[in-house]
Amino acid sequence: MSDGLYYSEYIELDKILNSQHPKSFTNMEDGNDEMLFIIIHQAYELWFKQIIFELDLARNIFIKGRINDNTPDMSNAVYKLKRIVKILELLNQQVSVLETMTALDFLEFRNHLLPASGFQSKQFRLIEVKLGLRMEQRHKTEYYKHTRPGSLSETDLQDVSKTESEVTLKQLVIQWLERMPYLQEKYWVGYQSSSTENKFWSDYRQAYQISLSGNENDRLAEFDKVFFNEGRGDISHKAMQSALFITLYRDLPIFQLPFDLLNTLSEIDELLSSWRYRHFMMVRRMIGVRVGTGGTSGAGYLEGTLSQHYAFREITEVATFLIERSKLPELPNVLKEKVSFNL
Ligand code: HEM
Repeated sequence: MSDGLYYSEYIELDKILNSQHPKSFTNMEDGNDEMLFIIIHQAYELWFKQIIFELDLARNIFIKGRINDNTPDMSNAVYKLKRIVKILELLNQQVSVLETMTALDFLEFRNHLLPASGFQSKQFRLIEVKLGLRMEQRHKTEYYKHTRPGSLSETDLQDVSKTESEVTLKQLVIQWLERMPYLQEKYWVGYQSSSTENKFWSDYRQAYQISLSGNENDRLAEFDKVFFNEGRGDISHKAMQSALFITLYRDLPIFQLPFDLLNTLSEIDELLSSWRYRHFMMVRRMIGVRVGTGGTSGAGYLEGTLSQHYAFREITEVATFLIERSKLPELPNVLKEKVSFNL
């Protein structure tokens, strides 16, 4: 063989292409849809691996503790997360390839799979955990924390548990939001406010109150709770203030990337949720309401995860507290100069 790298050796194609071993047939000329079923799952797991890789890189950027919004660090983190968005779009589309298999086709080999299922996907759990979805926020608590048949193996469960004790992307983003300096007094010299205390937020609260319709009165109490008091979900009131401020003033140069980050996190949540929905609909078509091979109620369980499993719910729900651009308080010049690149 000549010197240098050879394509199939480099990507270890032999290993990959020799890793499909259907349980329901041996003669390839007389096979069924189990081949598609295996390849689809392998393709998913490969992409899961890439998502985890990108997630770890993004986490490592935020772990540094001090991230300057104008350095490549911030754009690198956003870039990695946007790549995850693209992969998730692809994973959503992949469901329709598997849906070319009908329920009857699936029955030809389903019994050979027991009790294995995607429920045992360690990498899927790692993605959820690394993003920041906590056990208490799940549809059922502790539901994958056992090693009964159909669940995770002992070593996979240990790996997931170890990851659960690591810092999550969400925690790091919250810490970054808490560090945002632009709400400090020194940037607000000369700000014209109708109130003497907590000036910007009092003005904003008033504008928000005016924007509410008659049947939304409870929103103001919620606003006070979220931005002055206990925060929302996992996110402190200080970090919620930053998230809202970034969202409101995202047209200012320094907030463009931070807004992109928050928006991308919501997008990841939305795409994972779309995948859950597509998977749930596909499961109903394949097995109706029969119990899953992983031992859950099947479609019922999957429907439950749909409404519960959002890692960045609070960030997405910042939209609850927005007002029109034209009604926004005018920022003081000191701050405007600080947050604009060319002033
Ligand atoms: C014929 C196709 C499929 C059927 C009938 C099916 C069925 C199910 C069922 C019933 C569950 C609930 C757990 C249980 O087994 O009791 C489940 C969970 C799951 N499946 Fe599938 N599945 C299919 C394809 C896929 C594919 C292609 C993937 C891609 C990796 C996948 C990944 C998952 C994951 C990650 C879970 C856990 C979801 C969670 O706990 O939130 N499944 N599946």
